[in-house]
Amino acid sequence: MKKLRIIIFSGICLFLLSSCDRVFKIFEEKDLLERPKAERCADCHQLIYEQWRKSRHSKSWVSEHFKKSSENYSKVKCLSCHAPYEIDVLEKPELRDFHREDGINCVSCHFKDETKSMHGPYDVFSPPHPSTQDKNYIKSEICSGCHQETYKQWKKTNSKETCQSCHMPHKKEKLIQKFPFYLLHSKKEVYNHSTPALISKEKDFEIRFKKDEDNLFVYIKNIGVPHNLPTADQGKPKFYVDVIFYKNGKEVSKDFQTISFKNDEAFIFNKEKEISFFVFEEFDKIKLIISRKLSYEKNSEKILEMEKKF
Ligand code: HEC
Ligand code: HEC
Ligand code: HEC
Ligand code: HEC
Ligand code: HEC
Repeated sequence: MKKLRIIIFSGICLFLLSSCDRVFKIFEEKDLLERPKAERCADCHQLIYEQWRKSRHSKSWVSEHFKKSSENYSKVKCLSCHAPYEIDVLEKPELRDFHREDGINCVSCHFKDETKSMHGPYDVFSPPHPSTQDKNYIKSEICSGCHQETYKQWKKTNSKETCQSCHMPHKKEKLIQKFPFYLLHSKKEVYNHSTPALISKEKDFEIRFKKDEDNLFVYIKNIGVPHNLPTADQGKPKFYVDVIFYKNGKEVSKDFQTISFKNDEAFIFNKEKEISFFVFEEFDKIKLIISRKLSYEKNSEKILEMEKKF
């Protein structure tokens, strides 16, 4: 009797194992494979969704600045990266024709028609939707189809750091938050989907000075950020270099330069840039200020401020 029970039990187990795929199909949520809005993914991936909502990727279509510069969405060549269907390495994406207001959403970066599954960095057990491990997700190449100029600049620097290692800082967390399912899954590294623009630090620049009768020369080298500063070639982000001249502790004059990508004036990685300032009056001290303005921000932010005596 006992033997028979064991045989029947093992039989059932074997059947279940051999038809694992079919059994877990009952947990599949079909609409996830039909390119839903990002909100739908939040049912389980709450944390990542909240991060993404703070990102510029979620605003890429509704951005006032974009709306205006694409002439109310009439410039067709502008649209595809701002509401992509599916992404590919190095290739400009195709434009999608549904819920464009979602901008660059979860499925545009993760769902592939070819495998009808969510592509991502891990080998996971995800019954609600099939997943495919895809090593491109841990490489800068995944960003290259849209951030084309920045990717080219980065590639030239031979940097070992990927776009994700700086712009998607990671932390051990659960990939899903839905009760009770999250109890079944262990923590993994979750890469922050708010993709912050970041800001350079003082140590990212090497600075030296030279002076002659008419000019003060400032030599600035970007030694910390492995792409141009600014790198964005849309929306006119800017860097400012200000010099204030002093004599006996009193300000005598000011001069400044605006650095932008458009004019090909950017701070290129590891390349020293000479900026000359006209000297109007005698001075014995200067203050140097470097700041930046992102394309969609009203105000600039200070990166560094330093004094130098002469
Ligand atoms: C009903 C719950 C549920 C919903 C809704 C859901 N997922 Fe998942 N997803 C999971 C589970 C479970 C995992 C695996 C978690 C783990 O292993 O820690 C997963 C893993 C993933 C992964 C990782 C894949 C890999 O190979 O690294 C991606 C990417 C992903 N989901 C994208 C999405 C997207 C995009 C949506 C919305 C269209 C979505 N998911 C909606 C449950 C869900
Ligand atoms: C489908 C195209 C696309 C892909 C793929 C993409 N991006 Fe973006 N990214 C954009 C667009 C468009 C914006 C600008 C959105 C806006 O502000 O309107 C943007 C904005 C950003 C910003 C913010 C810049 C700022 O000035 O605040 C960062 C940082 C960024 N992306 C990093 C990444 C990283 C890292 C990857 C790869 C993991 C990536 N992006 C993949 C299109 C893309
Ligand atoms: C190849 C993909 C791609 C195309 C095509 C594209 N963009 Fe963008 N756009 C981006 C990326 C990536 C960013 C993020 C910043 C950067 O690198 O320029 C961005 C950022 C922007 C921004 C600044 C962010 C904001 O919302 O304020 C504006 C404005 C913008 N794009 C307008 C346009 C216009 C206008 C066109 C057409 C002339 C266009 N874009 C075509 C990828 C693209
Ligand atoms: C070593 C870290 C690091 C790596 C690697 C890196 N970045 Fe950046 N990135 C930064 C920092 C720091 C800033 C802020 C610069 C500033 O404005 O002061 C920045 C700014 C940006 C900006 C927006 C502001 C601007 O300058 O126009 C975009 C877009 C961007 N990076 C995209 C990328 C992409 C795409 C990659 C990969 C090809 C990448 N970054 C690789 C550190 C990094
Ligand atoms: C701009 C493209 C982009 C968008 C938009 C995007 N992701 Fe991701 N996602 C990535 C990349 C790249 C990684 C891998 C990061 C790494 O491992 O270096 C990733 C990783 C993941 C993972 C695995 C855990 C992790 O952080 O590595 C999950 C789950 C996931 N994404 C879900 C989502 C969901 C849900 C949304 C929408 C709310 C979303 N993603 C939007 C590019 C994107």
